[in-house]
Formats: sequence, C-alpha cells, structure tokens
Amino acid sequence: MKPRPLPIWQIFHPQEIAVLRTPTKPIDLALLASKETQVLIDRMVVTMRKADGVGLAATQIGRELRIAVINGAVIDQKPPIVIVNPKITRRSSRQEDQEEGCLSIPGVYGLVSRSAEISVTAYDRKGQQLAIGAQDLYARVIQHEIDHLDGVLFIDRTNRFTVGEELLP
Ligand code: NI
Repeated sequence: MKPRPLPIWQIFHPQEIAVLRTPTKPIDLALLASKETQVLIDRMVVTMRKADGVGLAATQIGRELRIAVINGAVIDQKPPIVIVNPKITRRSSRQEDQEEGCLSIPGVYGLVSRSAEISVTAYDRKGQQLAIGAQDLYARVIQHEIDHLDGVLFIDRTNRFTVGEELLP
C-alpha cells in the first residue's frame, strides 16, 4: 500500500506546539524495527515530499520519536536520508548565516547562524550505525532537524526575520 502523507503540525495550535516543544528521547532499536515505525518513516518521507520540504522531524507529525528525514536532494541523491537518534559529535568553529523557514511555521523566515561543518552519529532506518560528515546545506538541515528533536525551533535562533526568498526546512 502506498504510504499516505500526514498533516504537518504547526505552532499556531496549542496542542501541536506542545509536541513541537517536547524534547524527544532516543528511540529503542526494537521499536524502530517495528512495522508501525517503518510505515511511519515512509509516511514522513511522502509528507516531506508533498510539502516540498528539505527535511521533516517526527515531532512535526505529532510523534515524540527521535527520527528525522532529509531530502536526498541536499546531497544530490534521490533516496531520502533517515536519521535516528542523531547526535552531533563535532562542529566547525566556522559559522554561516543563511535564511531558514520551517514547515511548522509557514510564512516566517529568518537568518540563522549555524556551524558550516558537522560530524554526526546516528542510526539509519534499519538500525545500522551511520557516521555522517556534512557541510553547507546538508549540515544546516541536519542541525535544524536535530533542533526539532530537542524541541527547538529556528525562530529561537534568529535575531533577524527576513522575507523568505529561499526554501528551507
Ligand atoms: Ni522545521
């Protein structure tokens, strides 16, 4: 059966922002392997694609799970990248300012300063360990999604709101 997209939770609804603001705990790998979680990951991917997003965290579909999906296009690949229990292990001292937006905060954009390069450990959807070295847009999207999994939104990090010329997570 084709996975169906889910509604994206937004900060304007009290119940939805409560979940968006909840830091998630690492997910148990047995739960990750369950049919239910695997179907949910497929649904996160189609939800992200339908919304034309570059990334989506589980809290954005109302689930307190430490899982995010990232559009493979950010590294010029077709398959999406699924990161489970991601952890940043290294950050470059070099920061870059770029405009961000968020599917949970439509119509709002702002400049966010983020590390230009990061190293990340995570599991993929099959529970295999990943070691990711990311830079530029990929690094930014990962940091934005890990923020989501920690209950942090890009509006917490911007001190200058912008008009939205670029499309970001
Ligand atoms: Ni977002």
